[in-house]
Amino acid sequence: ALSTPGTPPETGVTDSYAFAFDIDGVLIRGGKPIPEAIEAMKVLNGKNEMGLKIPYIFVTNGGGKTEQERCLDLSRQLELEISPGQFICGHTPMKEMAAKYKSVLVVGGEGEKCRVVAEGYGFEDVITPGDIIKDNKNTTPFRKLTDEETENSRVRNFGEHEIDAIFVFADSRDWAGDQQIILDLLMSKKGKLGTRSETFDEGPPIYFSHNDIVWSTSHDLSRLGMGALRASLEAMFKALTGKDLVSTAFGKPQIGTFQFATRLLQQWRKDTHGINKPPETVYFVGDTPESDVRGTNEYNESPLSENTWYSILVRTGVFKEGTKPRFVPKATVDTVLDAVLHGIKREI
Ligand code: G3P
Ligand code: MG
Repeated sequence: ALSTPGTPPETGVTDSYAFAFDIDGVLIRGGKPIPEAIEAMKVLNGKNEMGLKIPYIFVTNGGGKTEQERCLDLSRQLELEISPGQFICGHTPMKEMAAKYKSVLVVGGEGEKCRVVAEGYGFEDVITPGDIIKDNKNTTPFRKLTDEETENSRVRNFGEHEIDAIFVFADSRDWAGDQQIILDLLMSKKGKLGTRSETFDEGPPIYFSHNDIVWSTSHDLSRLGMGALRASLEAMFKALTGKDLVSTAFGKPQIGTFQFATRLLQQWRKDTHGINKPPETVYFVGDTPESDVRGTNEYNESPLSENTWYSILVRTGVFKEGTKPRFVPKATVDTVLDAVLHGIKREI
């Protein structure tokens, strides 16, 4: 058979297994690395008893910046180079919706960052809550735009404009204002602000980049996440209209995210290590039973998965000792370093 051109197989790399990592609560907490994470990365890069490199990718529900920017942050935090070719964040799959919706409301994140991400994904017309408040300051009675926001916001007459879909890209920095605007749209006639539907079933669809009720950051206890905003919006929509809100969430534990991760890992192993076959086992290290363990287990058991996905739960994030995880991992260990050593030990 003719060999395909490409990266020649690298020596000193294991081709039979790989790792995939969650970020918050496993590698990072509140912007700082979890100490064992740095050593864990060194082990993967050859500091192990076989002296072999072990391929790995990152699959986070977080977001709010371009994949490139997130990788630069992570490279600095973990003291090694991380490429967008080994990285998926919560909003990465939203890229595939750019062909479907033209004019979209993008919610969440710092300043204009998520607008930049959405435009980079190919969305043609990206609107932010700031644009809407600039057009009509009475939209949110207690929220005033800063001078910088006023400057960046793009004004138009939203009463005459149809918004085709709502995308929550990252955590809202202003729940009250963002929820008001989202509900206005959900209850509108075809996404035209200032209108009210009589049936409450003609507003634009809403997509969330993930559904984590809580996540692990600088506080000792888990903090509210995007899934909490979703639950809150569902409750308000029901209270206001009597109807159930239909919404969609990407990210873990969705099977599609794990399929996406499988393709990314396959490409990454091929491009970087010259390995042109899937690994037999992928060790997924996470801290949130509902997202990481559930997704890994369900994907592993689904006919869509061609290899074994093995869930490892760590004790540095959302999961706390003493509580019984609703989704049971294959192994529970203290830190990400223990998780890496556990996987390696099973392979020797
Ligand atoms: O907002 C981010 C958070 O919900 C989870 O991130 O890395 O733990 O999937 P991660
Ligand atoms: Mg996590």
